[in-house]
Amino acid sequence: MITPVANFDLQAHNSLACPSRAEYFFAASDLNALRAALAWARQRQLPVSLVGGGSNLLCPAEVPGLVLQPALLGRQALSRDGTGVLVRLQAGEPWHPSVAWCLAQGYHGLENLALIPGTAGAAPIQNIGAYGCELADCLVAVEALNCRTGDIEHLDAQACQLGYRDSAFKQQLRDTHIITAIHLQLQLRPVVNLSYPALRDALQAEPSPQAVFAAVVALRSSKLPDPQTLPNAGSFFKNPCIDSDQFQQLHSQYPQMPHYPAAQGRKLAAAWLIEQAGWKGRKLDGVGMHLQQALVLTNPEKRPLNTVLACADAVAEAVWERFAVRLEIEPRRLCGSLR
Ligand code: EPU
Repeated sequence: MITPVANFDLQAHNSLACPSRAEYFFAASDLNALRAALAWARQRQLPVSLVGGGSNLLCPAEVPGLVLQPALLGRQALSRDGTGVLVRLQAGEPWHPSVAWCLAQGYHGLENLALIPGTAGAAPIQNIGAYGCELADCLVAVEALNCRTGDIEHLDAQACQLGYRDSAFKQQLRDTHIITAIHLQLQLRPVVNLSYPALRDALQAEPSPQAVFAAVVALRSSKLPDPQTLPNAGSFFKNPCIDSDQFQQLHSQYPQMPHYPAAQGRKLAAAWLIEQAGWKGRKLDGVGMHLQQALVLTNPEKRPLNTVLACADAVAEAVWERFAVRLEIEPRRLCGSLR
């Protein structure tokens, strides 16, 4: 038997701080509670939406039905061999403290992903990535509740289909599965990833994983605003991928334009496109693009989602007019589509 809270205030549950109310809210701290909450909503024919830490979320003013938070906690080493350790994080574990915990245990590989907000369970959905590393580098499996059958399924990395800010949990598994735990293969030796130039430049030769962790925390803190003091959802747009023909044409026009390899064509830096389009530090109705990082939309006056989206539309329009490149919004909208 579960008792969801009616007319629940979601403003503190979305890092953009948009005013938002859920018809019902329930935080499930174990699997039985999660299953019971789904049954509760089904009996009442209510739509169900999921929230994690709320740091990558777009919340409309009214969210009908049940907003469900998988709040399962626990971190453990499942097994280890001579060089590696398999770590299981339950979905509700906050990400950054989990990274710090792994480092303290001597489990290496997550340092570059320090200070990313959100929960472990949300991490595979957008395949969190930063400073030359992404979750795909160490994710080996996910435990997920199949909402139709009520069973826990073990999905290996291939089934999760992690891509750039993408996964099966944004595609075919989007409305049918709830991630309940993730399994990460980490290293017992002190390996570091210095492939990101600004990170390498911030460190001395042969840094320890602890030094990399500290440098990532310092780099992020210097560029990305703390949502507690300035509401935001990290990068608001994905870095766009364009085909080779369009890239050649843009590159000849703007030789200084940053660009990266992509699965197909070439990936561009949305922050650069936004800055060139004149939106760095610019605002519309109190919502604007951050002065230190043009890709981060900030909502200092805690305006509603419609105002946030109007600003995002204006930014995307300006980039389209200047470069004929479409920007795609990265955070996900609460829309009650879980089945
Ligand atoms: N740039 C500008 N103007 C700016 C900021 C950056 O021209 O205001 C240029 C930089 O000079 C650089 C390029 O844009 O050449 C890329 O900038 P940066 O390295 O800061 O990274 P990003 O591509 O803007 C991505 C991730 C971030 C992640 C950083 C660091 C996406 C959508 N964003 O940003 O992830 O922290 O790399 O690895 O891929 C997030 O997803 O929420 C997030 C913050």
